[in-house]
Amino acid sequence: MNKATFLSLAFAALTGGLFAQEKPAATPTPQWRPVYHFTPPTNWTNDPNGLIFLNGQFNLYYQHNPFENKWGHMSWGHATSKDLVTWKHLPVAIPEVVGKDTTTWIYSGSAVLDKNNTSGFGKNGKAPIVAIFTADQPKQKKESQFIAYSNDGGLSYKQYAHNPVIDLNMKDFRDPNVFWHEPTKQWIMTVAMVDEHMVRIYGSKNLKKWTKLSDFGPAGYTKNGWECPSLVPLVVDNNPAKIKWVLFVSSGGDHGPLMQYYVGDFNGTTFKNDNPADKVLTVDYGDAFYAAIPWRDAPQNKKILLGWLQNGKQETNPWKGQMSIPHDLSVKTTSEGLRLKQSPSTIVSGSLAKYAKGTLSKTNLTLENTLQLSPPGHFDGNSNWIDAVIKLNGAKKVGFTVAEKKGTAKKVLVGYDVEKQILYVDCTGAESANKSTENQIQTAPMKAVNGEIKIQVLIDKSSLEVFGNDGEKVISTMIYPDKDATGLSAFSEGKSAIKTLKVWDLNRR
Ligand code: FRU
Repeated sequence: MNKATFLSLAFAALTGGLFAQEKPAATPTPQWRPVYHFTPPTNWTNDPNGLIFLNGQFNLYYQHNPFENKWGHMSWGHATSKDLVTWKHLPVAIPEVVGKDTTTWIYSGSAVLDKNNTSGFGKNGKAPIVAIFTADQPKQKKESQFIAYSNDGGLSYKQYAHNPVIDLNMKDFRDPNVFWHEPTKQWIMTVAMVDEHMVRIYGSKNLKKWTKLSDFGPAGYTKNGWECPSLVPLVVDNNPAKIKWVLFVSSGGDHGPLMQYYVGDFNGTTFKNDNPADKVLTVDYGDAFYAAIPWRDAPQNKKILLGWLQNGKQETNPWKGQMSIPHDLSVKTTSEGLRLKQSPSTIVSGSLAKYAKGTLSKTNLTLENTLQLSPPGHFDGNSNWIDAVIKLNGAKKVGFTVAEKKGTAKKVLVGYDVEKQILYVDCTGAESANKSTENQIQTAPMKAVNGEIKIQVLIDKSSLEVFGNDGEKVISTMIYPDKDATGLSAFSEGKSAIKTLKVWDLNRR
C-alpha cells in the first residue's frame, strides 16, 4: 500500500466514509448515449418542461439536477434546436431557490409567449415569455403553482414577486400546462390533483389571477397518482375542419409508467370525455414513455408530443435520462372509435437524409429466415431508423433483430405476430437486468391492413421506439446492449415479402 492510499483510507475510516470513499468513479457509458435523441451533456433529466417554439427555434426546458447524476435540486435545464435533432445546450433557465427556511424546487410545467402582454411582464414593447410551474417545497411538504417571466427570449427567468399564483395548501398538486384559448380569450391551465386522480382546469386573463373552471376525473386508470396533464386540440382524419380535444395524463401503471389519454371536447370551461369513465386508452405500450407534453406554437400548426424515456435502475454516465423522439399527433377514426395517432415527427424524419451516414433501400423482396442488414461498418452502430412495409403472406412472425451480438443469443426482437395480432418487442435474449420479468416482452394489439403491416423501428444506442401502422400503436423501451452487440437484420418465420424497406444509419460517433 503506498502512502497516498494509506492516508486516504485512514481519512475515509476517520470520517466514517470508508465505503463512500471506495465507491468506484462512475464508468462512462458512451455506448448508451443516443445520437439523434436529446440528452443533457451531464447529469440527470426527467420530464420535458415548457415546450415552446420561439423565433424559429424549438425550446426544450427539462427537469434537471445541475449538480448530480440523480434526481434532486430540481431546476429547469434548457436547450434549443431548429430541427429537433441537433441541440444547443444553454445555461439552467430556472434554478432551484435555496432559502433559509425554504427550498423551492422547480418542478414540471409549461411556458407561453404572452403575445399581447396580458401579464404586463413585457418590456420595451416586447412580448414576455411566461413559465408556469410547480414550486415544490419539501420542507413544507407543499406544492403550489408559481410563475416566472423572461425578457431575454427564454434564456433567464425572474420569479414573479407575488407567487404562488395558485395555492391550495396541498402536498401533491402539480404540473400546470397552459395554453391560450382563442374562442374564450383566456389562458387555460390543466393541473394534476395527484392523489384525487383529477385534472383541475383553471382560466386566467393575465396568467397571475386564476379562476377554477372545472374538474375532470377520476376516470380511466386510477391506481396511481396522476401527473403532467395537458390538453391539445387535434385534427381528425386529416380534416382541419374536424377537431377533437385530447387530454393526456401520466401515472405509474401496473408494470411501469403509463400515459393515458381521453378523447373529447373542450368548450373553454369543461372537458367532456367521449368514452365511458372506465375506458383506459394507452399512449404507449412500452415501459419507458412518460410525462410527455405538447409543444406550444409549433410551426405549421403541428401538435408535437415529447416524452421522457425512463431508464429505471440502469446507470448511464455522465448523464441519466433522455427524451423520446418527438411524436406528430392527430386523431383517427377506427373501428373502435376515435383514437390517437402518433408518428415520429416529420420535422425529424425530414432531416434524416442530411444526418444519415448511409441509407439502404429495398423493394419487393421475398423475406424468409434472416436478411442481414449490417455489413461491417454499415448500420452497425445501434443508431438506425427503419421504415418498412411488409406483406405478411403466409408468415407467422416478421420483424427485425436489433442489437445482436454475433455468435451469441444476445439480441432484441421487434416484430409482428400474425396469429396473435400483436406488435412486440422481445428483450428476453438481451442484457435484461434493467427490466422486470413482466416487461421482458412488451406488446400492443395491432391488426394488419390488407395483409400488410407498417413498422418503424428507431434504435438509438439505448432507446428503442417502435411505431406500428403509421403510428396507430407505439412501444417505447430502453435497452442496454453490450458495446459489440450491434447486429441488425430482418426476419420472417415462413415466407413474407418486404414491400418497401428504408434504413438510415444515423451513427455519427
Ligand atoms: C413526473 C414528475 C412530476 C414532477 C416532476 C418532478 O415525472 O414526478 O409530477 O413535477 O416529475 O421532477
